[in-house]
Amino acid sequence: MSHKLDRSSFGDPANAGNLMTIEEASALLNEWVPNEKLRLHMKQVAAVMKAWAIEKENADEQTALKWELAGLLHDADWEKYPDDHCRIIIEELEKRNIDPDIIHCIASHGPGYFGVEPNNNMDKMIYAFDELSGFVHAAALIRPTRYEGLEVKSVLKRLKSPAFAAQVSREDINDAISRINISLEEIIQFIIDHQKDVN
Ligand SMILES: [Fe+2]
Repeated sequence: MSHKLDRSSFGDPANAGNLMTIEEASALLNEWVPNEKLRLHMKQVAAVMKAWAIEKENADEQTALKWELAGLLHDADWEKYPDDHCRIIIEELEKRNIDPDIIHCIASHGPGYFGVEPNNNMDKMIYAFDELSGFVHAAALIRPTRYEGLEVKSVLKRLKSPAFAAQVSREDINDAISRINISLEEIIQFIIDHQKDVN
């Protein structure tokens, strides 16, 4: 089953700046994603995306909300439509006339699967954060103190162990990191710091 989207343009430029509220996005998630763990994953990616936009990109409120919404919705159709993952949420957001940057960001969060290249920093960071966020969470969950005292070096060690969280693609992680000018260590530390209190 191919997840290739076979498109390169997403949304309508006329909808630039047309965002939804976090409440609206959460309502969509609650309806589309009964699986609490998957919802948590999206909330974690949303939290790190928002924090990165504010802390590293000096984003204004509106831009930070775009990063956060892309994170919050990027896997919204995964549970109900696994064979059409990404396509369904993209069509939904297009129907709702949502800002094309958010839609493109979601479409490019897995270039190897969806065939859409990340263009800007928002696209590149969701790609980097997606797998790594889940991986850091898996590394925290096996510790008695969870995120408390979790160190980057122990996450790096687990990344080198193929059996740990084997479903997380090391290849995608390396590919995502190769597209940005930020070290894997910095990204992992950022994730630990910003998703530890998300629930
Ligand atoms: Fe994801």
